[in-house]
Amino acid sequence: MAPLEAVDLIRRKRDGGKLDAAAIEALVGAYARDEVPDYQMSALLMAVFFRGLDAEETRALTKAMVDSGERLDLGDLGRPTVDKHSTGGVGDKVSLVLAPLLASLGAAVPQLSGRGLGHTGGTLDKLEAIKGFRSDLSAEEMRRVLREAGCVICAAGPSLAPADRRLYRLRDVTATVDCIPLIASSIMSKKIAEGTSCLVLDVKVGRGAFMAGEEDARRLAETMVALGTEHGVKTSALLTRMDEPLGRAVGNAVEVAESLETLAGKGPADLVEVTRALAEEMLRLAGLDLPRGEVAAALEDGRALERFSAMVRAQGGDPGADLPEAPFRRELAAGSSGYVARLDALAVGTAAWRLGAGRAKKEDDVSAAAGVLCLRKRGEKVEKGEPVLELRTEDEARFEGALGALAGAVDIRPDGEPARSRVIGVIRP
Ligand code: URA
Repeated sequence: MAPLEAVDLIRRKRDGGKLDAAAIEALVGAYARDEVPDYQMSALLMAVFFRGLDAEETRALTKAMVDSGERLDLGDLGRPTVDKHSTGGVGDKVSLVLAPLLASLGAAVPQLSGRGLGHTGGTLDKLEAIKGFRSDLSAEEMRRVLREAGCVICAAGPSLAPADRRLYRLRDVTATVDCIPLIASSIMSKKIAEGTSCLVLDVKVGRGAFMAGEEDARRLAETMVALGTEHGVKTSALLTRMDEPLGRAVGNAVEVAESLETLAGKGPADLVEVTRALAEEMLRLAGLDLPRGEVAAALEDGRALERFSAMVRAQGGDPGADLPEAPFRRELAAGSSGYVARLDALAVGTAAWRLGAGRAKKEDDVSAAAGVLCLRKRGEKVEKGEPVLELRTEDEARFEGALGALAGAVDIRPDGEPARSRVIGVIRP
């Protein structure tokens, strides 16, 4: 694309005009081939940030990013393929439980996941706390694991939506990430390219989530459901609360341990609720009509746990190996007696990050053992001086920063409130 053509598109969007599909596809294709410089793409992204994209433009952008790489065909697996994507939260280890659970119920689950950045954790960082586990698989390895275990959790390879990979990196350094059409097309281009036939989105709402408000989260969910449907992927979304951490563990190894408990039928109520709601929606989309109670039964009778071990082994990991343990631990005690009324997800996520569980830059290593355990959660009784949180780290110097993040993170009130459902609603085409 000639530089002047790109200038025309930037000007049109800057002035609030509409870009036609052919122009978007040509521009994104040229950017993926390195024929459009970052400074022009940055200007366009900022114009999009302020002016937005309508449904047709968002569809064209998504298609252009899918078409910039290969689209996997998983039609030969002999099982319905169904995936889940979460917009990310604190303590969100649902994928670790859900993928093997669905595999144990007859679906094939090709789950492409990411690494943590900032206060939200990444599924791959969690799984890599297991000795030997490999997330970087070729397309052929991904298929082999899917055939052997029924599910695979791995990184998106460089051949899937490469234009998104370049654009996402640019958005990260030009303050253009938090823009609904850009987020929706970025997420959906990878999910469409991975070849799943069904997809359930878990769009988190609240202080620990990308979208703090329900209205924005709903708009993001509706945009993604429409994009999936238009590209032939049966898609629906659940809106779920992310005001406090999901489950009790926040970190990497500690979340694997909690996932194993959940796969053995002993998970915390909120994690089980969200996992079961997503599983039921995935089964519905996949057309797997199972007797009532099968989802709970697969968690309780060891079927899902057995699939998890098979997946870990197929990806080079040792499901029997001890998980790393942090040498330094410190507790945060309740300042008064009563019931926990609020446990701030963002503060707990930031504390776990500062303890070493997350990274500040993409290249950073994470600590497998660091994290936070929520010993009391919303609605639970606590006496003054009893521990509410346990902080774990491999580097004692990190406690100070983590404790700083937790100032004001816990409210204790004299009266308890009943537990709230984490599931706010379902969005279908
Ligand atoms: N995750 C993505 O893959 N893309 C976004 O734009 C935001 C979150």
